[in-house]
Amino acid sequence: MPQSPRKIIIDTDPGQDDAFALMLAFGSPEDIEVLGIVAVAGNVPLALTQKNSRMICELAGRSDVKVFAGCDRPMKRKLVTAEHVHGKTGLDGPSLPDPVMPLQDQHGVEFIIETLRREPAGTVTLCPLGPLTNIAQAFLQAPDVVGRVQEIVLMGGAYFEVGNITPAAEFNIYVDPEAAELVFRSGVPLVVMPLDVTHKVLTTKARVQAFRAMGTEVGRVSADWADFFERFDMEKYGSDGGPLHDPTVVAYLIKPELFSGRVINVEIETQSELTLGMTVADWWGVTDRPKNALFVGDVDAQGFFDLLTERLARL
Ligand code: BDR
Ligand code: CA
Repeated sequence: MPQSPRKIIIDTDPGQDDAFALMLAFGSPEDIEVLGIVAVAGNVPLALTQKNSRMICELAGRSDVKVFAGCDRPMKRKLVTAEHVHGKTGLDGPSLPDPVMPLQDQHGVEFIIETLRREPAGTVTLCPLGPLTNIAQAFLQAPDVVGRVQEIVLMGGAYFEVGNITPAAEFNIYVDPEAAELVFRSGVPLVVMPLDVTHKVLTTKARVQAFRAMGTEVGRVSADWADFFERFDMEKYGSDGGPLHDPTVVAYLIKPELFSGRVINVEIETQSELTLGMTVADWWGVTDRPKNALFVGDVDAQGFFDLLTERLARL
């Protein structure tokens, strides 16, 4: 019997790579049912991430999906943004029309809480692609929902690659380390896509050409986004393309066999100025701290791009 699609909430701060994650989910209805999209402040402020989320839905022909605005700042700190990577709008590159679909009135955190209470326990997966503020707030405001989450599959952190926003920390965790700490200690089963894996899925020329060759609006916009986004990391790392971080989360839900990692303890640094937001990952098992996450380390990169391209071509 075919399995019913997995129900997810995407929590996001688009971001070109977030856009690929959303589109991969929309192109995979047999695998994934998107219950809603919650925007968070991250790559750019909330006013832009909620707008960008709606623009992506419309591009993918999914203006029926509910988009909510969540938190506009981290729990305890000033918002740090990443316009240097994603451009002023967060989605720089191709120009897209302003969205006409509405933003939901309900606060995104309330939507997360209400959905987890409404759906049967253990049937909703949370997919955070930005700072973990909304998820942490939901867990703080409604501790009863924590045990109802099926799994959290998130993009964030790094071990071997260490940091991208500071020498020690990855952006999503660095922006709201207190929220990350709360989520990593929540007891919910965690799957983590760190830079160690996302730096292996690079938008090489051939892969971007495959997007363009679709001959669709989604294909053209995807190629233009990849072209814009990759410049920053290619210069920084001298790599063959930009890392497509966030869609690894959705790809894992569809084809977990593309990925491998270790179930280990991961703690978040919240005190040190120098290493704030570092994901201290016990990859080598040198402590007896409790294992709290599947920390992914490797990916079949071509398998990932084959899946992504096939699903984007459906939109
Ligand atoms: C993460 O930070 C953001 O810039 C990307 O969208 C991704 O979620 C990578 O560090
Ligand atoms: Ca993101």
